[in-house]
Amino acid sequence: MTDHSRARHVAIIMDGNGRWAKRKGLPRAVGHQRGVEAVRKLVRSVGDMGIDCLTLYAFSSENWKRPEEEVDDLMNLMRKFIKSDLPEFVANNVRLKIIGDWQGLAPDIVAMLEDALEQTAGGTHTLAVALNYGAQQEIASAAAKAAASGEVTEESIAAHLYTADLPPLDLLIRTSGEVRLSNFLLWQAAYAEMAFVDTLWPDFAPEHLHQALDDFAQRERRYGGR
Ligand code: IPE
Ligand code: IPE
Ligand code: MG
Repeated sequence: MTDHSRARHVAIIMDGNGRWAKRKGLPRAVGHQRGVEAVRKLVRSVGDMGIDCLTLYAFSSENWKRPEEEVDDLMNLMRKFIKSDLPEFVANNVRLKIIGDWQGLAPDIVAMLEDALEQTAGGTHTLAVALNYGAQQEIASAAAKAAASGEVTEESIAAHLYTADLPPLDLLIRTSGEVRLSNFLLWQAAYAEMAFVDTLWPDFAPEHLHQALDDFAQRERRYGGR
């Protein structure tokens, strides 16, 4: 029997690094560094939480609007993170997946990601990272591909989304108190449960995810029925 109280696919909009740094009188870059630490701790602990897929919003297609220095900091953190954590992913059976227009990132990052995808292909739990991701672009491009195949239906569009091979989205969490989706997983969120928490991303610990999963288990999902 399927355990309906278990979230198989959880996605997180990791927001609030800048405000975390500001509150502490630190540079934004330090907020982003501490954000990476929060990611690392979370990824280490999800294996025990019964989640099959964790999807993290790391860089949106709109985040290019930020000052060049901040974009560079974020890209450098990405480089460092892949280098330092890839062996751990492989050891812990984490299958890395990238969603978004990641082929449009710097060529060295694309090469690192290709290598990381290859090395982790055999993993049993998925860590999907959204990089240069925008949901409206994803849906438009999936619809265009569906049209080219001659059949535009909900199923044929879904089959062309980045998430086609992932379980349906169960729970979408956003940190930092903002209550908006910022162009993340708009299609996939149709019947996802939502959790908006005030914690700023660098302070988000595995216990916070545990709490969100406990709350999720108490919810009644109706999908329009009764
Ligand atoms: C989230 O933190 C990280 C990214 C969007 C890359 P922010 O940088 O958006 O932090 P706030 O929202 O300004 O606090
Ligand atoms: C969403 O956060 C994107 C990521 C967390 C990567 P933003 O900070 O970019 O969203 P807005 O601008 O507040 O909507
Ligand atoms: Mg933000």
